[in-house]
Amino acid sequence: MAKPSLVITRRIYPEAIEALSAHFNIAFENQASDTPLTKPELIEKLAQAQYLFCTVADKVDADVIAAATQLKMIATGAVGYNNIDAAACKARGIRLSNTPDVLTETTADFAFALLMATARRVSESERYVRSGQWKGWAFDQFTGMDVHGATLGIMGMGRIGGAIAKRGAGFGMQVLYHNRSQAKQENGARLVDRETLLKSSDFVVLVVPYSPETHHFIQAKDIHLMKPTACLINIARGGVVKDDDLLAALRAGKIRAAGLDVFEGEPALLPGFLELENVVLTPHIASSSRATRGRMVSLAAENLIAHVQGLPLKTPVI
Ligand code: GLV
Repeated sequence: MAKPSLVITRRIYPEAIEALSAHFNIAFENQASDTPLTKPELIEKLAQAQYLFCTVADKVDADVIAAATQLKMIATGAVGYNNIDAAACKARGIRLSNTPDVLTETTADFAFALLMATARRVSESERYVRSGQWKGWAFDQFTGMDVHGATLGIMGMGRIGGAIAKRGAGFGMQVLYHNRSQAKQENGARLVDRETLLKSSDFVVLVVPYSPETHHFIQAKDIHLMKPTACLINIARGGVVKDDDLLAALRAGKIRAAGLDVFEGEPALLPGFLELENVVLTPHIASSSRATRGRMVSLAAENLIAHVQGLPLKTPVI
């Protein structure tokens, strides 16, 4: 029997290609480029495909799904799936899987990396050293904020939020959290309302999933509730923060600093961010350790293989 046809939108690891090749005819793999396919390209590639392996930067909207008449399943190599129209998939009986759990600890590590870099001005002081400006030691050089003893506010207490809370406790921080759906105690963290979290935290870390409800979840009015000495860390998604408002607030000194791994419209970002020393900018790499990225790719492949074999998906969304 002919193998079902699979489109892979992105460069993935050879071990996953090998595993997938045993079960699928790989009709297209975007091995040559890290540039996402355009919408017309994606539609064209999916014309005959039954399976799709995609990731965060591929927009699989209702038009793409409607055009992909043969499609049976989408496996995204990410935990967030806001880029895929899950309702349209459901209506067509298209299965969808994501990659939860395997990236939790790595992503929480990175939230802390951004938090520490922002608090202790790591990027800014490194730029100073690299540009040859360092002429000698001084008491007031790059004085930053203490992390130990500070208050950490986590917006979104899912798996990753819980792993960040654990790290905060390890650093001797007081940990607050806010979550809209589940009000449970997590790793010594205290549940507070959204306003209390914004007003009381020295570090606000955003880990909420992106959806129409969390579009511009943090905007000027929220930032203005924060302490002028506070830092905002976004490892959630571009669009959770209204970047224009954040930039204006940083310029006006409404908060001290920001650590941003995600941006509205990424990979484009507001040029104004580049002009500010007190913003640490990274290219959506929170889950990027080799081991974890390997696990994400493998899990997505295992979900696809489970579907062709008629087995339950390991990590289904629908
Ligand atoms: C990355 O952003 C993910 O959702 O896995």
